[in-house]
Amino acid sequence: MANPRRVVIENHRLLSPLINLLKKPQAIPLLLFFFLFLTWITLRLQHSSHVSSSSSHPKSTLKSHPDLKNLDDDDKVNLVRFGLASLSPVRKDDRGWLLDPVILARDSQLKGGASSCVSIHVGEIRPGGLRGNHRHHTCNETFVIWGAKTRFRLENHKVEKGYAEVLIGEDEVAVAVSPSGTAHALVNVDPVRSTFFIGCQDSDMQNNSSTSDYKIWKDL
Ligand SMILES: *[C@@H]1O[C@H](CO)[C@@H](O)[C@H](O)[C@H]1NC(C)=O
Ligand SMILES: *[C@@H]1O[C@H](CO)[C@@H](O)[C@H](O)[C@H]1NC(C)=O
Ligand SMILES: *[C@@H]1O[C@H](CO)[C@@H](O)[C@H](O)[C@H]1NC(C)=O
Repeated sequence: MANPRRVVIENHRLLSPLINLLKKPQAIPLLLFFFLFLTWITLRLQHSSHVSSSSSHPKSTLKSHPDLKNLDDDDKVNLVRFGLASLSPVRKDDRGWLLDPVILARDSQLKGGASSCVSIHVGEIRPGGLRGNHRHHTCNETFVIWGAKTRFRLENHKVEKGYAEVLIGEDEVAVAVSPSGTAHALVNVDPVRSTFFIGCQDSDMQNNSSTSDYKIWKDL
């Protein structure tokens, strides 16, 4: 049986040149390089795990998202999205995000949204839940949607199927506009998180149910 004390001594003998080297001032650049290398590796790993979901560029988010293969472009649903991990027009510093939906929609060249918020709805959609699937005839509406993986559908007769839809990531915030007479729907397709949204309408006629059509799409 090997003598444990002997093994320790052998190990020490093997490692001692390295230890002696590290004790010398010449080792400082070597150590600095080693830590630089570690930092680089860490940043690379973080970057590759974020790149698919937190990009603030709409098109690259769309292409890299595996669930979006059969979905449409953001411009077909009058929507812009922003990643929340990186600085963007909605997240200018470390406090988090803040936006004015009407101004952001206008600055993003989204056409047909509410020009002011005469009536506001703030809401939650739990996983699997649906809201909207209706068409208002007396108001333009601007939405802000965030919090969970959410399917957003907008009536669009330039698309063969009569509507376009996109998926909003759980770490994105989206602003979308639905002009008067356009049907829209929000579906939470997230397994655990709640979707949150604000709907800003430029008229308060929505208490009159004859100004809206309901249950537009049967597949939702
Ligand atoms: C909706 O927007 C259109 C222009 O995009 C405007 O003419 C109209 O007054 C707005 N408001 C309503 C309630 O339709
Ligand atoms: C309901 O709608 C009518 C017009 O249809 C409007 O005159 C009234 O102010 C509305 N009431 C509320 C509480 O929004
Ligand atoms: C509701 O809207 C319809 C269609 O615009 C209108 O004819 C009707 O007078 C409205 N009802 C009320 C109570 O405002």
